[in-house]
Amino acid sequence: MKSTIHVATKQAYDVIVGQDLLDEVGQDIIKICPTASKAFVISDSNVASLYLDKIIASLRNSNLETAVYVFEAGEESKNSDTYIAILQAMASNFLTRTDVVVSLGGGVCSDMAGFAAATFLRGIDVIHVSTSLLGQVDASIGGKTGIDLPNGKNLVGAFWQPKLVVIDTNTLETLPREQIIEGMAEVIKYALIMDAVLYDLLKNTNLDEIITNPQLRYEMVRQCVLDKTDVVVSDEFDNGRRQILNFGHTIGHVLEKMSDFKLSHGRAVAKGMSIVLNASRKEGLCDAATNDNGIDLIKAYELSVEDDTSSELLAQGAMSDKKKRGGTVSLVVVSSIGEAKIVKKSIDELEAFLEARKEC
Ligand SMILES: NC(=O)c1ccc[n+]([C@@H]2O[C@H](COP(=O)([O-])OP(=O)(O)OC[C@H]3O[C@@H](n4cnc5c(N)ncnc54)[C@H](O)[C@@H]3O)[C@@H](O)[C@H]2O)c1
Ligand SMILES: [Zn+2]
Repeated sequence: MKSTIHVATKQAYDVIVGQDLLDEVGQDIIKICPTASKAFVISDSNVASLYLDKIIASLRNSNLETAVYVFEAGEESKNSDTYIAILQAMASNFLTRTDVVVSLGGGVCSDMAGFAAATFLRGIDVIHVSTSLLGQVDASIGGKTGIDLPNGKNLVGAFWQPKLVVIDTNTLETLPREQIIEGMAEVIKYALIMDAVLYDLLKNTNLDEIITNPQLRYEMVRQCVLDKTDVVVSDEFDNGRRQILNFGHTIGHVLEKMSDFKLSHGRAVAKGMSIVLNASRKEGLCDAATNDNGIDLIKAYELSVEDDTSSELLAQGAMSDKKKRGGTVSLVVVSSIGEAKIVKKSIDELEAFLEARKEC
């Protein structure tokens, strides 16, 4: 099983989704970057111990020289120290503009490797080999790269489209269950905002089947890649339609921050989606069935919808988030399963909207 999805952004590229693709990465790279003589692989400590040997063998089989940088797994590594260390390793290995960077890992790896590639020698080619569910359905596609600052997440970055994305859904076999659950929050997001077919697929299966059935996992990831591609192609630089991907995120980010990041991104987004679904029903922005179906799906994938945060704090937090424009917050709501729209709210309106969710 394998399919190639074309991402027709200005700098167009392909996403190859399939099973057992790691052995082919070298050949794939040579096709896309025929002048490359060296591949600089960036990976994290967990993923490197599982898949680095395979990737290196594949690159060498295609006559590419290899150099490797492995960082300690985790969001804490997505910082300026690791970023600079990566750039220095690239320079020490005499990487040139015709060479290529390969990220092997989840979203932390593709974000940081992508940013290093965007900035080293003012930009060299990058290929993402994505191994986490969140990476495969979200972070590896769309060209957003970056690192965190002590002041906040993803504050420094660049748009830098990869030359190729390789998604081997069999790598999800080694991904811890909790990471699958977190990634499912993003999968459910696509289903609710734009993909009623994906909604049906998710409704008719369950987490254990997705974890154990390779075919189902492949189909689900492929569907999400098509969805994300559709959105980023229509709004490459995040000025319009791409905003619908923020469903659950405006409130989710506030919950993440309020918990001092003890609440994970996926779990915070799941709560954010639930809060907005409940509030939308009260305001007549969606009907009761949409609200119930959305909440049931989130719960079915072992994501909690419990929350008793003060609406005032949520509204204040959302207003200080970087996504606000002027004096209003753009909030993504699901009007029916597979359909999203954006509503604008002042801080007082947002607080009243969020407060109404408690009557659900
Ligand atoms: N650029 C974007 O558009 C975009 C979109 C969404 C998220 N992100 C970023 O992505 C990051 C989160 O991504 P993530 O959840 O993939 O984090 P991650 O890269 O840290 O991966 C999560 C954990 O899973 C491990 N892992 C990954 N693949 C594995 C595998 N196949 N087997 C075993 N373990 C594996 C990693 O080592 C890590 O411990 C955040 O930094 C976020 O800001 C970026
Ligand atoms: Zn997200």
